[in-house]
Parts: sequence; C-alpha cells; structure tokens
Amino acid sequence: MVENVREPFAPARILGIESSCDETAAAVIENGRGLLSSVVATQIDLHAQYGGVFPEVASRQHILTIYAVVEQALKQAHMRLTDLDAIAVTRGPGLAGSLVVGMNTAKGLALASNLPLIGVNHLEGHIYSSWVYPAENPDPPAEPQFPLMALLVSGGHTELNVMTDHLTYQRLGSTLDDAAGEAFDKVARLLGLPYPGGPSIQKASANGNPKAYNFPRSRLEGTWNFSFSGLKTAVLRVVRELEASQRQLPVEDLAASFQAAVVDVLVSKTLAAARAHQAKQILVAGGVSANKALREAFMEQKEFDVHIPSLSLCTDNAAMIASAGYFRFVLGQHDPLNLDVMPTWPLS
Ligand code: KG4
Ligand code: ZN
Repeated sequence: MVENVREPFAPARILGIESSCDETAAAVIENGRGLLSSVVATQIDLHAQYGGVFPEVASRQHILTIYAVVEQALKQAHMRLTDLDAIAVTRGPGLAGSLVVGMNTAKGLALASNLPLIGVNHLEGHIYSSWVYPAENPDPPAEPQFPLMALLVSGGHTELNVMTDHLTYQRLGSTLDDAAGEAFDKVARLLGLPYPGGPSIQKASANGNPKAYNFPRSRLEGTWNFSFSGLKTAVLRVVRELEASQRQLPVEDLAASFQAAVVDVLVSKTLAAARAHQAKQILVAGGVSANKALREAFMEQKEFDVHIPSLSLCTDNAAMIASAGYFRFVLGQHDPLNLDVMPTWPLS
C-alpha cells in the first residue's frame, strides 16, 4: 500500500498502454495530468455482430492494431521512446488474452528502450482520468481533493471507494450481482437495441418518458452495496407481458424508465456515502460516467463538487493508465519483466 503521497512530484512523461477489453489504446501524459496524445482504436463494430465482446476476436485484433496505435500516440506527442521516463500498462482486471497483448508490447518497448515498466490497475486508471486535461490548456482544472468519494461504474464493476490520498482506496461496497454497465448492456439486448447497450439506451431514452414505468430501486439500506438484477428482471417481466399480448414494445419509455432507476440509485447512494464519510468531493469514473442523465443528476445537486471525466476519457483509454502510472512511477514502482497479467484484480 502507498501512504502519505505528497506534492511536489517530479516531472515525468509516461507512455500508457491499454488493451484490457475491446479498445486498443496508447497515450502520452506529462507530469501525471497533461495529455500530450491519446489514440483509441475501438473494436465495437467487430463485436456488435456477437452482441458483446468475443474474447478471442478481441485479443487477435489487439495484436493487429497495437503497434500502429503506439506509434501514432508517440507521433502525436512529437516524441520518441527516448523522450519518455516510463511505460505504464494495464495489468488487470480484464480479459486475459487481451491484457497479455498490451503487457507484452509494453515489455518489448521497455526492454528495447531501457525504460521502467509499471503495471497499473484498470480501475485505478478510470479514477485517474479525472486528473487528466489537455496539456495545451494554459489554465489546468483543479485537482480532485481528498478525502474523495469515488463511484466506479463500468461494464464489469460498480463500487464505492473512499480515497484519503493518492493511490489509497477503501472499498465501502460494490454490486452484489450485475455491474451498472452490464445492466445497461443486458437491458439493451432485451429491448432489441444494439451493442454497446449504454449509449443505445441513452439514445432511446432521449424520446422516452422516465416516469412511464416505476421500476424498482434496490437501495440495500444499511450497506454501500448495489444490486441491479432485480431491476433487469422487472424490465424483462414487462417485456414478456407486452410480447405475450402481442403489443409493440414502448422501447423509448422502457429505456428511459430503466435509466432513471439506475441513475436514481447511483446518485442517492453516492451522496449518502459522501455525507457519511465526510468526503470533500465526489469523483465518478468508468464507462457509465459517460451517461448524460447520470452526469446531469450529479451536476444538478449543489451539495458536493463532482469530478466526472470529459466524455472521451470516460470509456477505456490509455491516458488514464499513463496518469495513474505517473503517480506510481514517482513513488518508485518499477515492475520486473516477468510481470504477469491479473484478469481479476481488485482495486483495494
Ligand atoms: O469502462 P468501460 O469502457 O469498460 C470497462 O472497463 O468495463 O465501460 C463500458 C461500459 C459498457 O457496459 C457500456 O454499455 C457502458 O460502459 N457505457 C454507458 C455509456 N457509455 C458506455 N452506459 C450508460 N450510458 C452511456 N452513455
Ligand atoms: Zn474500463
């Protein structure tokens, strides 16, 4: 564990590499925050035909793309490997075959250039996306302040963590079943909407009535855990009833009502946790933080300042890995070349 990290930190430029799921990404970050370049090659079109990520197809596509992505990230940053201080790479959690591609690429580059290798937790990366801003911006946005209540909402994880300092996480609770993003993806499939489900539900919701269906909000009082499987089943029940009576699915109303239930639970629990733990600010991270209704709900409340990454940094990218890698680098983390991937690696 890393404790009592204090500024000022040493200047450094880090190349980040991310390949944990279906995005191949590379980025260069200066001093932990300044974004010099970020390249993301998405495989969404490739997996859409399967309705989700096909692991073997994902890892083979990473192999085809990763060197070009890294080259482009260096080119956009006007840098060579010799201008860098370290290489940070996602070690886990994620799909084993996908992680291995990024890991081996990072090792090859580290070996060839004699740069330190730094393995980064993907979830920590998502959290650090709130530290990133475009390097050319003369007026950097304020950094998140500790103690921070961090809500992590991605395709595989939904959890609340208190951060009292850099790289320090105390997990308060997590989902007992589906992650929020997973619930979006599964409900989208039920409604016949394309993969990935989150953006599809958001789009359909724009023309729907969020009060058309009063779907259940599982609050799990007395804990900081979440549960979305009851909500998913409630949507399934309505869909089955409508289909049995051969009525057309009111897809937009169903999507909007489902989204409203998810947003309601995520926002109310995060605010309650922030109050209970005397957090100074809130941070929201992970793919679901791209959701417009969720962003608006957090921004409408005035009790806490809320950090949510810019849209391009919400879903998987390598800038967040380079940023988290920087904070590990300045603390002296330097991993060996036999570093293995960790497909199930908790944050705390
Ligand atoms: O963080 P991420 O890109 O990958 C993981 O680490 O899992 O998150 C992907 C998840 C998917 O479940 C996707 O449906 C969801 O984020 N997502 C959204 C939106 N954009 C992506 N969910 C709701 N609304 C969105 N706009
Ligand atoms: Zn992610």
